[in-house]
Amino acid sequence: MVVTNRIDATLTDITSLEYDVIVNAASNALQGGGGVDGAIHRRAGPELLRACKKLGGCATGAAKITPGFRLPARHIIHTVGPVWRGGAFAEAELLTKCYTEVLALAQRENVKTIAFPAISCGVYGYPIQLATRIAVTEAMAHLRQNRHLQHVRFACFNEEILCAYKSQLEVQNFTHKGGGRPWR
Ligand code: AR6
Repeated sequence: MVVTNRIDATLTDITSLEYDVIVNAASNALQGGGGVDGAIHRRAGPELLRACKKLGGCATGAAKITPGFRLPARHIIHTVGPVWRGGAFAEAELLTKCYTEVLALAQRENVKTIAFPAISCGVYGYPIQLATRIAVTEAMAHLRQNRHLQHVRFACFNEEILCAYKSQLEVQNFTHKGGGRPWR
């Protein structure tokens, strides 16, 4: 199945997107913070913190959903990426789990459009090239099996992040077309 017209990367503030779901790169406590988490809480309003407090935190690699409150997005899926500690502490497995858990939860909620920030690539220090490979691989694999999902957007906060996603999207599309990996 062709998925390239259902996935993109663009320079944008994720809080401005009118998507069914935007994904938050949160902390285990789900109490708000800096980076994209801070921006989402500011724009969603104080109701978001009240809703998050009822969720009992979130394990690294897990995902929880709330309404979007004052955001243009209908819902927020909160996930907690790993802190980068050199790569030998299951960081790749945990970051992969963030994407698979978020996408599985979105599928259960019948989500049609979803936007991701570069989870773990800010305060948590995950190298952008490694993180985008995981993000694009998992999103493309999911799009192939979930026909209901119409669009995945990677919301990039600066040019460096945008370049990393764009080259991954090109590489993985090329690999697929060339038959290098048995995508479904
Ligand atoms: N839209 C899109 N991307 C953004 C935005 C935005 N409005 N703001 C920042 N980014 P980070 P992490 C990008 O640090 O590394 C928080 O304090 C940013 O450029 O937000 O997973 C939480 O509470 C970067 O590429 O998340 C946690 O404690 C990406 O979003 C901790 O930070 C992720 O950077 C999580 O750290």
